[in-house]
Amino acid sequence: MYVCICKNVTCHQIRNAVYNGASSLKDVRQELCVGTQCGKCVKDAKQVIKETLVDN
Ligand code: FES
Repeated sequence: MYVCICKNVTCHQIRNAVYNGASSLKDVRQELCVGTQCGKCVKDAKQVIKETLVDN
C-alpha cells in the first residue's frame, strides 16, 4: 500500500528501511524522500516506522 503518493513510497519500502537501520522519519526521508512534497503522508509514515520498530 502506498503511504506517500507524491514520491511513490510504499509501507513495505518504509519497513525495509527500518529493518536496514533507519529509526526515525529523518532517516527514512533521506533514503526514500518520503514526505518531501505535500507532507500529507508524514503522519502515516511515522506510524509505519513506529510500528516496525516495536515489532523488531
Ligand atoms: Fe508524501 Fe505528498 S504524499 S509528500
